[in-house]
Amino acid sequence: ICRGFSSSAVRAVVIKHVTIIGGGQMGSGIAQVAASTGHSVTLVDTSEDILKKSVKTIEGSLRRVVKKKFADKPEAGEEYVQKVLKNVSTSSDAGSAAQGTDLVLEAIVENLQVKQDLFSHLDKLAPAHTIFASNTSSLSISDIASSTSRLDRFGGLHFFNPVPMMKLVEVCGTSATSQETFDSLMNFSKELGKTPVSCKDTPGFIVNRLLVPYILEAYHLHERGHGSKEDVDIAMKLGAGYPMGPFELSDYIGLDTIKFILDGWRVMDPNNPSFAPSELLNKLVAEGKLGKKTGEGFYKYK
Ligand code: NAI
Repeated sequence: ICRGFSSSAVRAVVIKHVTIIGGGQMGSGIAQVAASTGHSVTLVDTSEDILKKSVKTIEGSLRRVVKKKFADKPEAGEEYVQKVLKNVSTSSDAGSAAQGTDLVLEAIVENLQVKQDLFSHLDKLAPAHTIFASNTSSLSISDIASSTSRLDRFGGLHFFNPVPMMKLVEVCGTSATSQETFDSLMNFSKELGKTPVSCKDTPGFIVNRLLVPYILEAYHLHERGHGSKEDVDIAMKLGAGYPMGPFELSDYIGLDTIKFILDGWRVMDPNNPSFAPSELLNKLVAEGKLGKKTGEGFYKYK
């Protein structure tokens, strides 16, 4: 042990190899960023077909980066794309992928039982030093971690969509997360070129805990007849300097996602007025008007 370093700095695991479970929107984005910053990545999903699509997505996104970054040197750009892709391997067997890795980062479906089943299985197979982390947006990290015996080596690593563009990572330690694990997750986020913030295992961490009640308050204001959607959106863009108003932002996120998050929080904290249901939101979701992805939400899209 080196003198002059705190014991946490000495013992924090340096994450070189990362296994990302879930090759959807978030998992592919995280894999791209980790591979671009020199980490070896194993991307896991349920089938080879899905994984092929994930790698295609990563390749397409890298080519967009390269078009700008290597505008006058296309050959160097191609070399860069191939170098990054070399850092990514894929597997449809989470158990074997977890065996030689420093970090298992999960970005699968937002369902507590499914996440618990996955981690409980991997807990038996991953090396002792391996840190587990979840990218969940709305579930409790402690609840997910409770399915494992490595509570001290479990944390939250919450990225934002689209991952290659968004600079923030919320790093969440539970009451059982060790300082070493927390330090490793903070360092890993920095190595990815992101800015990490530290947060507690509370609903929505920081960003969503402030953003979702704000969005909900906009629905309630509109439901009371105190402002049209258009006026509320214009007001928040021009008056508060937000890039999108709350109704536009809702359509971008997906109304089903917002409802899912709110319904989950209400179970955890039923009397919190910030989580009160919105009839308008419920009606639109019931009608399948989920926002941009379905062509209609609060607004219509071509
Ligand atoms: P997605 O639906 O695009 O991708 C999920 C992927 O996980 C799918 O490819 C699916 O085949 C795979 N999968 C499901 N169960 C699996 C299992 N047992 N083993 C291996 N693969 C499995 O979802 P998305 O949007 O990427 O979200 C993933 C996680 O990230 C969720 O927990 C979500 O709450 C969280 N998140 C989502 C954000 C977003 O804006 N979409 C932002 C931040 C976090």
